[in-house]
Amino acid sequence: MATAPCDRGEWGSRAGFILAAAGSAIGLGNIWRFPYTTGQNGGAAFLLIYLVCVILLGVPVMIAELTIGRHSRRNPVGAFEAIRPGSRWRIVGFLGVLTGVCILSYYSVIAGVTVGYIFKTVAHSGASYAAFTANPLLMIPLMLLFLALTVLVVQGGVRNGIERWSKILMPLLMLLMVLLIVRSVTLEGAGRGLSFYFKPDFSKVTGKTFLDALGQAFFSLSLGMGAMITYGSYLSKKDDIGTSALCVSFFDTLIAVMAGLLIFPALFAAGMDPAAGPGLVFEVLPVIFARLPGGTLIGAAFFLLLAVAALTSTISLLEVVTAWLVDEKSILRRRAVWIVAAIAFAFGLPSALSLGAVERLGDLPGIGMSFFGFMDWLFGNVMLAVGAVFISIFFGWVWDRRASRAEIEQGCPSYRKCAPAVTYLLKFFCPIAIGIVLFFLFRDLVAAG
Ligand code: TRP
Repeated sequence: MATAPCDRGEWGSRAGFILAAAGSAIGLGNIWRFPYTTGQNGGAAFLLIYLVCVILLGVPVMIAELTIGRHSRRNPVGAFEAIRPGSRWRIVGFLGVLTGVCILSYYSVIAGVTVGYIFKTVAHSGASYAAFTANPLLMIPLMLLFLALTVLVVQGGVRNGIERWSKILMPLLMLLMVLLIVRSVTLEGAGRGLSFYFKPDFSKVTGKTFLDALGQAFFSLSLGMGAMITYGSYLSKKDDIGTSALCVSFFDTLIAVMAGLLIFPALFAAGMDPAAGPGLVFEVLPVIFARLPGGTLIGAAFFLLLAVAALTSTISLLEVVTAWLVDEKSILRRRAVWIVAAIAFAFGLPSALSLGAVERLGDLPGIGMSFFGFMDWLFGNVMLAVGAVFISIFFGWVWDRRASRAEIEQGCPSYRKCAPAVTYLLKFFCPIAIGIVLFFLFRDLVAAG
């Protein structure tokens, strides 16, 4: 039995919702994943394609998810069921829930590394990123610690748990980033980093660049798996979906662009390789901290705030799956969170061990990626893109246009002016553009297999 809407709780205030949604969006995706993906894809050209993806795909899909969520007041599975009862659309919701657990599993691994780096910075340990991630006695307990923290917050429920954290700490993170950017761009040799980041070289653009940019846009905005459907379900009818979607997308993108501005100048100043991969941020940042007075304290504070940003993101991942178990399976919230965390831990173990600890997991035969890399590629890129295609088709073609429009215009009367553009993007542009990228991906996979 689904829980009646009035029992589900709502956000405490409009700002509370925007901060919580921004908290979900802003996380390791912006500060860890965005810089190394940009670095691997040649810099400025990727940045440009990424920005186009955010505006033309991200914003409309976010509006669609929030609207589906608020209208149905359900978790992703229940939401499709509520709007199209008895149809196969609920499978899209299931895929979202599955994707949520899988992202949570490997995301917690990197979040754990972030926590570890707080202590590593304070202890002035010179150990490399590779040495750190190769140590299972660090990786597993840290991941476990992070999952436990996530559980403790989500247990508290929507308002007390999620909202309170985001309010104070997100602005603080931004402030610290500004300070670090100033140091990074004034390092000697920073100029080459700036031109890498801002002067596009389109010869580096391939089909993979588009999949990476698209996947990164959905990952960073927490789209494609129903996280925003779930967060939208806690919105009140008075809330303004259009403005909220714009605000969240704007701040999320701002932080990602800032992260690039923080990393690339320092990276080039230190003569490091922009295509080094997932370790990038953890290798470059200490370079900046070392050149700042009070760098130890600043470094530790930065990793602490990054861990908090990661926490507000894992909260949303756990919340999706929990909301499904609570709404649809009538499992107590207290129990549901632990069940989901235990599954995420089990899935996360091979990821945690694949970054150097167990050689076989570090390079999966026939796949050419680590287990961690494979999970991130499959769930963090491909599945989110697939989910986004279905969500846009559902919104654009399946759900009655007048109903969706009336839902958005409640609380956002000025949506009337943008409705044709948003509808067009969701009906045609999103499914076709994402479809083309996925088509080429599968063609390459078939050719390679
Ligand atoms: N957006 C978060 C980040 O950038 C990660 C995240 C949280 C996420 N919830 C999500 C990604 C849902 C995809 C779907 O770090």
